Amino acid sequence: MSFNLPDIIDGENKNSLLANCIRNNYRHIKKWAKKSLTNCFRIYDREMSKYPFAIDYYDGKICVHFFAKEDDDPSPELIQEVEEALNIVLPYQQIFWRTRKKTKETRQYEKLDQKRDFFTVLEYDVKFKVNLVDYLDTGLFLDHRETRQRVAKVASGKRLLNLFAYTCSFSVHAAMHGAAYTKSVDMSNTYTDWGRDNFELNGLSSRVNPIIRADCLKFLETEREKYDLIVIDPPTISRSKKMDQLFDIQVDYINLITRSLKLLNPNGSIFFSTNSRKFRFDESLFKASVRNISDKTLPIDFHDPKIHQCFLIQALT
Ligand SMILES: C[S@@+](CC[C@H](N)C(=O)[O-])C[C@H]1O[C@@H](n2cnc3c(N)ncnc32)[C@H](O)[C@@H]1O
Repeated sequence: MSFNLPDIIDGENKNSLLANCIRNNYRHIKKWAKKSLTNCFRIYDREMSKYPFAIDYYDGKICVHFFAKEDDDPSPELIQEVEEALNIVLPYQQIFWRTRKKTKETRQYEKLDQKRDFFTVLEYDVKFKVNLVDYLDTGLFLDHRETRQRVAKVASGKRLLNLFAYTCSFSVHAAMHGAAYTKSVDMSNTYTDWGRDNFELNGLSSRVNPIIRADCLKFLETEREKYDLIVIDPPTISRSKKMDQLFDIQVDYINLITRSLKLLNPNGSIFFSTNSRKFRFDESLFKASVRNISDKTLPIDFHDPKIHQCFLIQALT
């Protein structure tokens, strides 16, 4: 797969502080991205309160995530201002807008469009299928790039279980780093299919990398296989016709971790992560050592230290 990162249009711009900020960020991240063979990364992360969005670059396409205060969409003037700033710095790139509303609705991951506009990006030289049009999320959560890398680096020869696997990005990275076996579990047909495509894209066998469509809580009640590494990265809240009841991370993490600890081989580890800002981890509930590794998993292009919380959990013997 070809690997090209466009050159930036240089020179300060007196009329656009936003353009200057994006230019500085892109210049900084480009050096790292070239070395790391990664062509998807963040080029603006809500640094200026006037511009409440994050902007991600996906191999020549730009995705602007607008974080709405209420139920509002960005005004036409704001859209124009942002697109002008982007065109000053990175001309000729396609721009896609997504609005994240503060809704009380708990059903997520819905389809937004039907264009099936998929393309392939590289993260640490591993291929992933992404889509900036049809779904609220793109197929690859960029804030977990370093968490995936951390898991992959210890995966050689190991057995990995990936719960709430989404498009299987943790499992694919682990398999590319020589994991002996991965099992990925997710409730959605759309994402289990997408995960299968990601394995195939990287030439990985489905025989030793099975994907199971199931509710993770029910799966854990019957699973008997043992693992060296377990990744648990659930949604904050979710309700679906396929589940008996509402999933709430602050309540359900206890059951998830307790059951996962029982599936660990000696010296095994759990990587548990959440994007919930309110989440509190009560270590006293588990017979395990728990280390908060959130600061070690923050990518260089993300400026919000609360983007996710991540914990490394090991059973006490
Ligand atoms: C935050 S995403 C997970 C991100 C993923 N770990 C990654 O690194 O890309 C949440 C995923 O959980 C799945 N999901 C939500 N509730 C579930 C449940 N009870 N059992 C299995 N999967 C569930 C959704 O289909 C979605 O793919």
